[in-house]
Amino acid sequence: MSDHTIKIAEIKLTEAEIEAAVRVLRSGALRQGKECEAFEKEFAEKVGAKYAITCSSGSAALHLAYMAILKPGDEVLVPSFTFIATASMVVMAGGKPIFCDIDPETFLIDLKDAESKITEKTKAIAPVHLFGNPCNIEAVQAFAKKYNLIIVWDAAQAHGATYKGQDVGSFGDFVCYSFYPTKNMFVGEGGIICTNNEEFAYKIRFMRTHGQTGKYYHTMLGLNYRMTDVEAAIGREQLKRLDEMLAVRRRNAEILNKGLTEIPGIRPQKVTPNSKHAWHQYCIVVDKEVFGCSRDELAEKLKQKGIATGIHYPRGLHQQPIFEQMYGKQVFPNTEYVAEHILALPVHHGLSETDIEKIIESIYEVRKEL
Ligand SMILES: Cc1ncc(COP(=O)(O)O)c(C=O)c1O
Repeated sequence: MSDHTIKIAEIKLTEAEIEAAVRVLRSGALRQGKECEAFEKEFAEKVGAKYAITCSSGSAALHLAYMAILKPGDEVLVPSFTFIATASMVVMAGGKPIFCDIDPETFLIDLKDAESKITEKTKAIAPVHLFGNPCNIEAVQAFAKKYNLIIVWDAAQAHGATYKGQDVGSFGDFVCYSFYPTKNMFVGEGGIICTNNEEFAYKIRFMRTHGQTGKYYHTMLGLNYRMTDVEAAIGREQLKRLDEMLAVRRRNAEILNKGLTEIPGIRPQKVTPNSKHAWHQYCIVVDKEVFGCSRDELAEKLKQKGIATGIHYPRGLHQQPIFEQMYGKQVFPNTEYVAEHILALPVHHGLSETDIEKIIESIYEVRKEL
């Protein structure tokens, strides 16, 4: 095993980010305040949204969005291949997630399957820009218009992704981000919701603080889902280097794309046309018959060569015990195939071109050694 392990994520704050946090800690103004307000303005400006509202996590962002629009029993179309929060927050807001299969190449929600699931109760669709790969936004918008649906974009993994030259954060009904430590922006715990709709912005802003529209005066129900000023200060500072971090991820992904296309049995996620992927994860699908060993065997062999990998996600949401219990057994062939064959390779902003070349060489070596 090599002594230099290539990690799957880089979670290191800069001195400027640490100083920003310390400045707030010293001030004693720990709760949501001026830093959150400034972060909201700066993030909205960066992505081109009218409003941005900070909150305590990406899950909280989704929960607030769903709470703002759902009545009990309302249905939301959700891809079956994503992190659980995209669907579980629908349930926590009183709705029902209706799972839809994915496209096997982009790993994004399949609108044909979604169309077959439309009922009178369908209220919204929650497409996920999975791993930072933007959905075909125009197609989703046309679909939502046709069926009169609200769109809750899950952009937890897509800071800086663009579609037709426009940041994915600017296409709101709701665009929900996470700042969890492995994400493209990382402040500890935190989330933000972008929207261009004044009424949605108003509701979410107050639902985030127990629906308190005046001092101890509550006109709606909500939760305590506030971000703290410490996290917001880190976020404000980090926003300044988002483009730089993304440029490294994109360079790394390009080298991987070039290097891996020649390897039979390895298929990288297909990028949506007219878009710029944010490469939160660089995922490949490993075809055992063609490549010569399974995804799990490849992961183990790469580990021995000092390269960490990840599996996002090992099963579809419809296969999660809790959802099987709630909604019975369902079958989504594309999701199940991808879940069984997918592998995430390191792509993050802390990796050099040499690191990325080592990953490619190591995959070649694994194949040769089979
Ligand atoms: C697609 C997706 N949605 C939602 C979330 C939830 O974000 P958080 O962990 O900040 O609650 C995540 C985080 O892992 C995610 O990857």
